[in-house]
This record gives sequence, structure tokens and C-alpha cells, in this order.
Amino acid sequence: MPVIPDFTSPDWHKTHQDSQLVMSILEGKGTLMPAWRGKVDPNLARDLVAFVRTFGPAGLAVSGPSTTDFGTRMKQLHQQWEELDRQARALSGH
Ligand code: HEM
Repeated sequence: MPVIPDFTSPDWHKTHQDSQLVMSILEGKGTLMPAWRGKVDPNLARDLVAFVRTFGPAGLAVSGPSTTDFGTRMKQLHQQWEELDRQARALSGH
């Protein structure tokens, strides 16, 4: 089994371009990462890359608006998460 990438690693994010990750999702990578072409269209692949970016350091947002429901919903959840995080910090005095 190849090493599954550590999506929380800043170095991993820095060394992998959005376009490269979109291609890996659509075409597969190595022997175990399956190709999702046919099940996932390029717009959704782009949103999945944006999702993978949320595990990395802040400020890595994929540029341009999302064109799928998944992307819109993910953006809403991300905003809610940031608001809850802000409230939790305010309550704990940090
Ligand atoms: C829609 C679901 C999935 C998404 C969005 C996804 C996303 C990714 C991404 C972005 C990478 C990094 C590719 C790169 O370095 O260029 C990756 C690698 C990998 N994924 Fe997935 N993945 C998915 C499902 C799966 C599944 C179901 C498996 C296993 C059965 C899997 C196994 C792997 C493995 C083994 C790698 C490392 C490949 C290598 O570097 O040789 N992934 N995945």
C-alpha cells in the first residue's frame, strides 16, 4: 500500500498544484488511487481539491467561484465553522 498523502501537511500543499490534484482525481494516481472520471466531473473535481485544501494551512483557497452545489454547501459550512471557532475562542478567553 503506498503512503496516503498527509493532507494536513503544509509542505504537501505547497508542492502540489490545483491542476495536478484535479488530474489525479479524474485519472487516478499510482496503483490504488482510483480514477473518478465518469463519476466526478471536472467542476466537482475542482471542488474536491478545494475540500482537500481545507485540511491544510489557511489561505489556500482554490481561486474562482464554485459551480456546483457541493462547492456552495462546503463554503457555507466553512463559514459556519469559522464563526463557531470565533465564538468558542471568545468564550474561552483566547
Ligand atoms: C472522491 C474520493 C477521493 C478523492 C477526492 C481523493 C483525493 C486524492 C488526492 C487529491 C490525492 C493526491 C494525488 C496527488 O498526489 O497528485 C490522493 C491520493 C491517493 N488516494 Fe485518493 N481520493 C479519493 C478516493 C480514494 C480511494 C477510494 C482510495 C483507495 C481505495 C484512495 C487512495 C489514494 C492513494 C493510495 C493515494 C496516493 C497515491 C500515490 O501517491 O501513489 N483515494 N487522493
